[in-house]
Amino acid sequence: MKATLKNEIIKRLVEANGEPISGQQLADEFGISRTAIWKHMKQLQEKGYAFETVKKRGYVLTATPDTVDDANISMALETENFGSRIIYEQSMTSTQAIAHNKAQEGAPEGTVIICEEQTAGRGRMMREWKSMKGKGIWMSVILRPEIAPYEAPQFTLVAAVALTKAIADISGVQPEIKWPNDLLIEGKKCTGILTELQADPDRVNAIIMGMGINVNHQPNDFEEEIKDIATSLKIASGKHIDRATLVAKILYYLEIYSAQYVKEGFEPIKSQWESYSCTIGNRIRATTLQDVFIGKAIGITNDGVLQLQLDDGTIKGIYSADISL
Ligand code: BTN
Repeated sequence: MKATLKNEIIKRLVEANGEPISGQQLADEFGISRTAIWKHMKQLQEKGYAFETVKKRGYVLTATPDTVDDANISMALETENFGSRIIYEQSMTSTQAIAHNKAQEGAPEGTVIICEEQTAGRGRMMREWKSMKGKGIWMSVILRPEIAPYEAPQFTLVAAVALTKAIADISGVQPEIKWPNDLLIEGKKCTGILTELQADPDRVNAIIMGMGINVNHQPNDFEEEIKDIATSLKIASGKHIDRATLVAKILYYLEIYSAQYVKEGFEPIKSQWESYSCTIGNRIRATTLQDVFIGKAIGITNDGVLQLQLDDGTIKGIYSADISL
């Protein structure tokens, strides 16, 4: 779907790089009246975008708001398709719940659901996921890969690689991947991934890829029960991170790696995953729904299953578990 006109206007002003563009020029380029352009500019100002009006010469974009709204993300997008439809609200119950509905209604691959604050954010195993206003990235992306349902869990690992690379590019800090779905910095969690499926017995209709990233949190922003185990990109890098630019970079890598997965399978991505992993090579405790296994994590299979060498030497395949290091 085409980006909205407001997003196109912002993109055009960013590309102008400080050169004023007149209302008439914008009106001609977008095929609408000058009054319509003026109305769009007014609405953008209300959202926190600022313009200088250079006498007789036109508009210059001077400031953008610290939000993850669709216009802000669109101007940084480098994708073919992912992010061409962005559903953004200040506050949502859970982007994951909304993405499920949109996927059922037929939303295309690469649709993004994102907000500033979630009031009922959820993590794995139905845990609560705290989603503080304006501090993090709380988003769900709809993927529609042509794969069988048993392959879907590997998409958590694909997303982990995409997220790791995007975070390193934008923040300068390299997170580690804790199998299967956490990103850690210096042993503390900065990101969680929630992969959910809409599938028939033999085919995936949609993967709802939920991502929660603690971006600009200060230490005091974390509640007592998680403050010793959670961190943010700001705490780790010492700088404020532009969340919209990070979202655009995540979509860039997610598009590349999910296409690569569909074409070539997990193997080429697996070696990248292993290079960022802090699980492999370590003695760990894996708590599954039924049991607890302790042993050395010796690798993941081409299907993304964790291989645990138990103390008696046997190898146990772990499909889903909570891992403590
Ligand atoms: C976990 O580590 O348990 C996964 C956390 C996933 C949180 C994200 S935030 C965006 C999306 N919406 C939700 O309600 N959950 C996911």
